[in-house]
Amino acid sequence: MTNTSEAAVSGTAVSDGAPVVELDNAGKAYGNIRALHGVSLSVHPGKVTCVLGDNGAGKSTLIKIISGLHQHTEGEFLVDGRPVRFNTPREALDAGIATVYQDLATVPLMPVWRNFFLGSEITKGPWPLRRLDIEKMKETAGQELRNMGIVLDDLDQPIGTLSGGQRQCVAIARAVYFGARVLILDEPTAALGVKQSGVVLKYIAAARDRGLGVIFITHNPHHAYMVGDHFSVLRLGTLELSAARDQVSLEELTNHMAGGTELAALKHELAQVRGVDVEELPEAEDLTATATATATATKDGAA
Ligand SMILES: Nc1ncnc2c1ncn2[C@@H]1O[C@H](COP(=O)(O)OP(=O)(O)O)[C@@H](O)[C@H]1O
Ligand SMILES: [Mg+2]
Repeated sequence: MTNTSEAAVSGTAVSDGAPVVELDNAGKAYGNIRALHGVSLSVHPGKVTCVLGDNGAGKSTLIKIISGLHQHTEGEFLVDGRPVRFNTPREALDAGIATVYQDLATVPLMPVWRNFFLGSEITKGPWPLRRLDIEKMKETAGQELRNMGIVLDDLDQPIGTLSGGQRQCVAIARAVYFGARVLILDEPTAALGVKQSGVVLKYIAAARDRGLGVIFITHNPHHAYMVGDHFSVLRLGTLELSAARDQVSLEELTNHMAGGTELAALKHELAQVRGVDVEELPEAEDLTATATATATATKDGAA
């Protein structure tokens, strides 16, 4: 990893690509349950950091810390180089950290433009006659969506009539408009088909090109590899791989996600059990060879 150049950059102005958000050996325990431990991660403007991991790996816990829903119980969480501890999602938002949750917080029957401004409506007229500035909101929402390359026929249609992918895109455009510097996306492609996933990935790239630091949570290594600059793989609450794009291939990433080492061990165990045909399973040597190669990459990445 190019630690020297990164160190040089962080010594200068904040806008010069220094990390906006950093976790340094951060962890979180829910009572006796240690959901996350020793996780270090940095999010840079104009870069996509992918967080991968199987169910229960700690992905949601990680983003809950950054988005102000939960507080870390170990290590440090820094924004613009300063240690922080958010008490509410509002505080994270005020620091420029916007989160698009999988179950989008939209009102399905309300028009697209209304959802775009939900909770931050534009009003006009003096108090006590202040009322919603519908024209302004429609015009702005339309303009912002077009700026992101999102074309919708009718902003008056209920947001519930849009596809899941389109709704994710509106949420991304909304975060960009309201001045987010960091955009967290929790499994935005999980429930989508191939084509819709492609559309969402395109807007993740658009947000990145506008200089936002993006945290893209996914368990799909293919989606991650299409837009990612850095890959952090979580497993049972710890970081099992942290590698820049040029340090890891898609194949290695996929193997990490598939748990290559466990597959090999499982095959070995199954071989001891009579009646199980292990011939059909992948070759243990193949899996271990790739796993070892990637494990070496992990060490380099963490150094
Ligand atoms: N509120 C909670 N209380 C207790 N345990 C939790 C809570 N949230 C998550 N966990 C545990 O922490 C671990 C990581 O969960 P999570 O962050 O949701 O993983 P992921 O999003 O990768 O599926 C799991 O073992 C889960 O059961
Ligand atoms: Mg989750």
